[in-house]
Amino acid sequence: MSILLDGKALSAEIKENLKVKVAEFEKNYGRKISLAVILVGENPASCVYVKNKIKAAEFVGIKSLSFSLPATATESEVEDLVKTLSVDNSVDGILVQLPLPKHLNEEKILSIIPAEKDVDGFTAENVGNTTLFKDGINSCTPAGIMYMLKSTGVSLSGKHAVIIGRSNIVGKPVALMLLRENCTVTICHSKTADLKAFAKQADILVVAIGKAKFVTADMVKDGAIVIDVGINRTENGLCGDVDFEGVKDKASFITPVPGGVGPMTIAMLMSNAYKCAYRREND
Ligand code: GUN
Repeated sequence: MSILLDGKALSAEIKENLKVKVAEFEKNYGRKISLAVILVGENPASCVYVKNKIKAAEFVGIKSLSFSLPATATESEVEDLVKTLSVDNSVDGILVQLPLPKHLNEEKILSIIPAEKDVDGFTAENVGNTTLFKDGINSCTPAGIMYMLKSTGVSLSGKHAVIIGRSNIVGKPVALMLLRENCTVTICHSKTADLKAFAKQADILVVAIGKAKFVTADMVKDGAIVIDVGINRTENGLCGDVDFEGVKDKASFITPVPGGVGPMTIAMLMSNAYKCAYRREND
């Protein structure tokens, strides 16, 4: 029987602590921390995520500035908005919700965000710092995963971590963060031959492939820590990339979906917004 890694409870704790720090910031610097959130189009999942991010900001005392552009917004309209927010001294953090509509150049738009306002940790400078194992602004989902792993009290050093998925948002950065903690890291992806053989070796299995119930019990080693990053909308409601019911009796720790990694991403976003604001006042 596994122990549930309760992201909802853990993120609530983090946000309570942040609330105190945010109030102190306001007292010390005489202003609120502000976070600009840009949503382009009406992707239903993105709308929910953005709503939850704004709600969390309100809870911790961060002022959110919400910008909703139509799905038909042009490249220059989005770029101009990011540029305006970049030079606006009252804005501490800028978040562009992904994915963007296909006609927009995601990489170019993200590259305009100054590293010091990059609350998502997506810019080349912040990704570079993650790669160099420097403390900086790490991207939120991987940071949330690391926080959860550390909360288990299990030593990560020397463990074999297998990541399924190689996205810029999750797979690649979490691999680097696990490496920083002295894990031996394997990254699997859609072209990996005999993925099951790799998954079965994992002491820590991070699944971010975007396929409902992709990881089944026969792919999991007894006692593995299983982190499910997937959020898939199926006829039967939300489910992760892991077949939770099948895997839960094999894993030592497992994250639920929903209520696992998702809330941790938002807590880490709030933490990054605080960090950006603090650094802008102090560096
Ligand atoms: N889309 C899915 N996850 C994320 C995230 O962490 N940040 C942003 N900006 N977009 C996302």
